[in-house]
Amino acid sequence: MPDIALINVARLADDAPTRIELPGLPPLVVVRHGTLFHVFDDRCTHDEASLADGSVEGEELFCPRHRGAFALADGRPTRPPCFVPLRRHAARVIDGVLYLDWAG
Ligand code: FES
Repeated sequence: MPDIALINVARLADDAPTRIELPGLPPLVVVRHGTLFHVFDDRCTHDEASLADGSVEGEELFCPRHRGAFALADGRPTRPPCFVPLRRHAARVIDGVLYLDWAG
């Protein structure tokens, strides 16, 4: 199920995590960070908080519940109590729309 349209990138404010829910997919969080777009599972690996309610500081995505954090670049945990990587999804922009390359 490759190339699923997620959102028009004009709707994404810089560094504002945005939750996207589509049928057949887990909840996702999208982050626009400058010219880059990152897509992760929207479930903190520590205690399942929604990262869409968190914040971006520098190159990290912070969880709102216990302030653990993950690297935007690859989802690796950067601050405790997060120790398990966040699942990152491949995505690309085509004609102003962010598409998810869904691997299942
Ligand atoms: S639920 Fe995210 S740091 Fe605890």
